[in-house]
Amino acid sequence: MPAVPSITIQEALTDIEQQFWLDEQALKDISRRFQELFHYGLANHGAEMAMIPTFVTGVPDGTETGTYLALDLGGTNLRVCEINLDGKGGFTMKQEKYKVSDALKRGPAKDLFDYMARSVDTFLTDYGTSSSDDELLMGFTFSFPVEQTAIDKGTLIHWTKGFDCPDAPGKDVVKLLQDALDRKHIKVRVNALVNDTVGALLARGYQTSGALLGAIFGTGTNGAYLEDITKVKKLNLPSGGPSHMVINTEWGGMDDERKVLPVTIFDNYVDRKSIRQRNHVFEKMISGMYLGEVARAVLTHLMDHLVLFKGFSSELFNTMYAFDTAYMSAIEADEEPASSPNCATRKVLIETMKVPAEHVSDEDVETVRKVCRIVGTRAARLSAVAVAAVLDHTGNAQSKSTDDQGANVGVDGSVIEFYPHFEERLREALRILLGEQGEKRVKIGLAKDGSGVGAALGALQAFKQEQSGHRVEI
Ligand code: BGC
Repeated sequence: MPAVPSITIQEALTDIEQQFWLDEQALKDISRRFQELFHYGLANHGAEMAMIPTFVTGVPDGTETGTYLALDLGGTNLRVCEINLDGKGGFTMKQEKYKVSDALKRGPAKDLFDYMARSVDTFLTDYGTSSSDDELLMGFTFSFPVEQTAIDKGTLIHWTKGFDCPDAPGKDVVKLLQDALDRKHIKVRVNALVNDTVGALLARGYQTSGALLGAIFGTGTNGAYLEDITKVKKLNLPSGGPSHMVINTEWGGMDDERKVLPVTIFDNYVDRKSIRQRNHVFEKMISGMYLGEVARAVLTHLMDHLVLFKGFSSELFNTMYAFDTAYMSAIEADEEPASSPNCATRKVLIETMKVPAEHVSDEDVETVRKVCRIVGTRAARLSAVAVAAVLDHTGNAQSKSTDDQGANVGVDGSVIEFYPHFEERLREALRILLGEQGEKRVKIGLAKDGSGVGAALGALQAFKQEQSGHRVEI
């Protein structure tokens, strides 16, 4: 006897929609939890939302000048750049991208860092340098949670985003890189360690004179902001030092205890199969590395209930991470009727994901679109909570004066840049959290090349700290 679905597609979709929908109360509860965990992380070492002091003690204003190298690890590619800051908020940049294989991501740390040093060497051979200094200064954008003790020192807490070199956690990543460069006799000194969010904050500050938050919505997600040093209770710095310090929140780890995060069975599935289970769950609900996988979990659930593709799947739909977030972007951008030969959704399903054409009905096309919309909308609303929470925490959620300059947020990453409707949906949730006026003040702008320019600005700041004898270290 042929199997008969026990539910209708409408029932199944309503159920999924309910599980993924964040109403006003949920948004506010998560926002409140953010505030609690900001305070906890600023006072305690080892928190899941780590609130990492970065030893970057100010945000640039656009007048900075100089030539610096940057090495950027932590997104999709490894990048080496040389940046010339012109002192007028502008810059020129030479850059090259290098692929990082899965073997390097998960093998011995030495192999990964030797590969990075080799890439710097290749870059300098291919492009030369416009600096006349004997020793080139380099900012290292390393976008993973690191416990920093100075602007150029920090031990890896743990990997995220699919990296897993087992011998790296607990080691100083600047030293690992410097040793690798020295082994090759490359005359480069790594003088600043910068998270990509810190890079976004610095780059946005440089480009628009002043920024409150640097945020990444890309392969991973995170935010960094400038904090009043007296609030960073866990640092215990002697008085007379800097008044402010940039904090790398590591908000991907917000509420790993799941007190308020409405984690669905689909998120649990993705988490269970991930490299670090029960860790960075918030990030797994938001970022580009995982969104496709969450959607795949929902879609295969619908197949299993016989309400999608008549219960058939495909080899690729059965493969972890094979439904890329970029496919969701293509589907969400698709406005063609489901029956049209130009329908991008149908093409993704049949040509890319190899579902046999005879199993893909127009209704299936609509279902897949809806699932992508549901998963993508939740990601944008959760992202809005993170942004609003930082503005709230720093007293910048509402206008403070009549000549209010607004709240300047620098963003970077493939999701905010390319995922259709992401910012519009994020803003819709900001309106709920900050009110109409509050949302209008938030200026979201791409911190273009934040990881490169930001690392250069970090290197410049580190150099100034050294020269002025105001190096901060614990
Ligand atoms: C890392 C952060 C990083 C973010 C965005 C997260 O997985 O823990 O350090 O800023 O990804 O790249």
